[in-house]
Amino acid sequence: MTDQTIDLVPIGQTPPLGVVPQRMKAFVIRPERFGPPTESFQEEAMPVWDIAPDEVLVWVMAAGVNYNAIWAGLGQPVNILKSHGLPFHIAGSDASGVVWKVGSAVRNWKVGDEVVIHCNHLVEPGTSELQTIWGYETPDGSFAQITRVQGQQLLPKPKHLTWEEAASYGLTYFTAHRMLIDRAEIQPGEDVLVWGAGGGLGVFALQLCKVAGCRAIAVVSRPDKAELAMELGAYGVIDRNEFSDLQFRPPESPEQAKTRLDTTKAFGKRIWEILGEKKSVEVVFEHVGQRTFPASIWLASKFGRIVICGATTGYELTFDVRHLWMSQKRIIGSHFADADSAGRANKLVERGLVRPVMTECFAWDAIPEAHQRMYENKLHGTVSVLVGAPREGLKTFEETLAVQKG
Ligand SMILES: NC(=O)c1ccc[n+]([C@@H]2O[C@H](COP(=O)([O-])OP(=O)(O)OC[C@H]3O[C@@H](n4cnc5c(N)ncnc54)[C@H](OP(=O)(O)O)[C@@H]3O)[C@@H](O)[C@H]2O)c1
Repeated sequence: MTDQTIDLVPIGQTPPLGVVPQRMKAFVIRPERFGPPTESFQEEAMPVWDIAPDEVLVWVMAAGVNYNAIWAGLGQPVNILKSHGLPFHIAGSDASGVVWKVGSAVRNWKVGDEVVIHCNHLVEPGTSELQTIWGYETPDGSFAQITRVQGQQLLPKPKHLTWEEAASYGLTYFTAHRMLIDRAEIQPGEDVLVWGAGGGLGVFALQLCKVAGCRAIAVVSRPDKAELAMELGAYGVIDRNEFSDLQFRPPESPEQAKTRLDTTKAFGKRIWEILGEKKSVEVVFEHVGQRTFPASIWLASKFGRIVICGATTGYELTFDVRHLWMSQKRIIGSHFADADSAGRANKLVERGLVRPVMTECFAWDAIPEAHQRMYENKLHGTVSVLVGAPREGLKTFEETLAVQKG
């Protein structure tokens, strides 16, 4: 329903359920202000999206902060507005909220449903597997009172979580789940080396290993992350600062290459110490890239798998391929998730077997600042912002309305 009498609703308020205002508040990126987040993100009142038959509008209660919004605002490494062709962009690839309007072809969802959203947006639903990332390659993300998504992107909001917790985990958790469960196919009894175990992907990789009956060895660089890793079920922790020459810094002299191999062997011995036996890990969880990839190849066991979804430290990878073929190891690529795997992953959260690890929650006005702090590497873990929720701690629409009414 569109009620022409409602133009714009203040942040923290909602119109009656299902009534769509003409405009919505949003943090908007435009090419003329590409730059750091405090410049690129500006609040504007924007027209509310029209929807196609397979789409829905969701009233956003909270949104998750991801690095892709920073890239969008910088206009680098690509001008992402060119992928959707609009002169503006609303970022945000994670959200929790309430279904507000449903397209005629959407069967499984109704107005009022409380949901989280996965960001796998299909280019041609039903005919093509081609995917774009909602809120990055599409212009209608979650840093707005109302977002537009395909019905297939909706998942039930886990009832025990607050709006902000529910908005915090999708992109990173569904990626980690796809990597370990669907792509590397981890099996009970296997051991998994998790790089960046205190980071966005890592905190979920550790929990998934535990659920799957695997022992996870967490690699971190700080004591607080080591503590968090053990809390989340890691079997042991390695401080990567003890192995500084592990990092590959091309070009290398033969002496440097030898030092690096010796350090990699010492790292492998540390794994033996933790496991209490002379055994390698069957699976390596990779996303660091250039700095760690040669070690990951070496450290995986015979027939081991190295599953990779990113390359934070550089994507041009150089490694000694003999270590791959002689021991018949496999490198497995993985990229986000689809509706099926996101749904299976979400069930584990609904059942309390995997929990979000939200480290901070910002108010609506602080959306540029939250991204600026991430840009300056001053945040860690997963971070949310409040959009429609008037305060932290609320779990249902009913509760939210009660607080709005005061
Ligand atoms: N393809 C996909 O669908 C997809 C989805 C999500 C993320 N990604 C990519 O995956 C990567 C990780 O994402 P994230 O959310 O986990 O990021 P994050 O929260 O920033 O965590 C990355 C972790 O990497 C570790 N790290 C950084 N430099 C390192 C080095 N030189 N050696 C070893 N470890 C290092 C850090 O941990 P310590 O300092 O504690 O070791 C850090 O916590 C990013 O490149 C991201 O773009 C891809």
